[in-house]
Amino acid sequence: MNILYIGAGFVGACSAAVSANSGHRTLVFDIDKNKIDRLGSGDRDTVESCLFEDGLGDLLVRHKELIRFTTDYKEVEEFLDTCDAVFMCLPTPEIGETGESDLSFYVKAAEQLAAALGKRNNGTQEKYLVIVNKSTVPVNMVDRTQEILDAHGVENVGVVSNPEFLVEGKAIQGSLKPDRVVVGAYTEKDFLVMRAVYQRFYDSPSVEYIEVNPKEAAAGKLLANFALFNKLALCFDVIGRTCEAFTDVQFEAVRKILTTDPRIGNWGMYDSLYAGGSCFIKDARSLSHQLQTIGMDATLVSETYLANKRQLETFIGRAKKDAGFDWAGKTVAILGVAFKRDTNDIRNSPAIDVVNFCMEQGVRHIHLFDPAAKPMMQNLFPENQQLRYVDSEVAALVGADVVVVATDWPQFRGLADVFLAGKAHPLLMDGRRMLQHRYGDLQKSGFSIIAVGSPFLKAAKAAKASEAFEA
Ligand SMILES: NC(=O)c1ccc[n+]([C@@H]2O[C@H](COP(=O)([O-])OP(=O)(O)OC[C@H]3O[C@@H](n4cnc5c(N)ncnc54)[C@H](O)[C@@H]3O)[C@@H](O)[C@H]2O)c1
Repeated sequence: MNILYIGAGFVGACSAAVSANSGHRTLVFDIDKNKIDRLGSGDRDTVESCLFEDGLGDLLVRHKELIRFTTDYKEVEEFLDTCDAVFMCLPTPEIGETGESDLSFYVKAAEQLAAALGKRNNGTQEKYLVIVNKSTVPVNMVDRTQEILDAHGVENVGVVSNPEFLVEGKAIQGSLKPDRVVVGAYTEKDFLVMRAVYQRFYDSPSVEYIEVNPKEAAAGKLLANFALFNKLALCFDVIGRTCEAFTDVQFEAVRKILTTDPRIGNWGMYDSLYAGGSCFIKDARSLSHQLQTIGMDATLVSETYLANKRQLETFIGRAKKDAGFDWAGKTVAILGVAFKRDTNDIRNSPAIDVVNFCMEQGVRHIHLFDPAAKPMMQNLFPENQQLRYVDSEVAALVGADVVVVATDWPQFRGLADVFLAGKAHPLLMDGRRMLQHRYGDLQKSGFSIIAVGSPFLKAAKAAKASEAFEA
């Protein structure tokens, strides 16, 4: 089949790679030339410097005969003559504090597409194709898309919803072996096109292939994301908080009791300082906005959002409250700037808020380390006299008065030995419980620890704060 992707972000690039892997001739259009050049470079490292997703570079290199990246809309127009499906993979961020989805990227791309569709096949529009909403959109978006097509006189086109459930960091693995594929369409004709697009999954006994209508598909995506977001909030705002409130109630012990109940399950039951990323927050806000616009009560949805927000504020606030730590003039090491491990995505990353907080407090130096997301963070916070990027977690510790573990990169687990071997005793702020297996040893050696899911763990012996950490 011939498949067009509009938007080459995490969703567009990964889905397009999997499309080519399924044997479809695939064209990817984006307005970001730098991104398109790198994704289309045919070089694995160049691809990964743009989008760090395990396996993406390999797939794009392996299938370079089938997949093309372009910023030239003329190529899109030509492709539309024989195209079977157009996947809309545009950003749908939230507008300010209202929670309403900003559909301007989507609408702009849809209008440009509609204008081109009306002219396809020399204006005869004889080739049938489907427009597929892969972006996470409001429940009624299918109507809006249809209106845009109608306004441009587009005919012989179906509008389908096919929400994306990929997990960043495992996007390729997840897209090659999805748990489920959800297709929302109104007509059998559209279901048939989508079954052909997803033949390998439609035929697979291990994939739930779910056919519903487009509004059910869009609602299902928003609700699935809310359910996951809510579970993360439950973990840190209720379970973690309870463990912070009582001494001798270890988070990992409680976690085991809970997760061995299959009704509760494992997913999301790791304490953290924030549920970041590009989706959960904005999708919960969008759901809440949509419900409230119709006059429905959305208290639980809104409260989950607020719980997430207060988690980070509470965590940072504990430095002063628990340890009497004054940030002004201090050196801060922030370990991890990606919003979670195995990705270079920093959207809604807790490290951003921590950096902003440090600047407000007048810290002297900020040392930042991340094994993958440094270039992304540099775009947001260029290096200067106050803020420095370093090449290893150990280098970040040099001279640090406080160490904030913000991302769950597995290598941070080994840091306890580095701390124990050194002479300095910075305040340890573990936002991911990465050092939990050594909290006792660290305390005994003079480290005070503020960890999500633990009460304040005060150093068992006085530390010599004046000695600098040696790399
Ligand atoms: N990232 C995820 O994990 C994930 C998972 C599921 C669903 N989603 C949803 O998928 C959608 C896309 O997310 P993403 O993470 O890929 O976003 P992204 O920001 O990484 O990528 C979007 C791309 O669209 C491009 N773009 C903007 N305007 C354009 C236009 N007019 N024409 C062509 N390209 C244009 C941008 O340059 C960018 O490369 C969002 O609605 C998101 O909520 C994301």
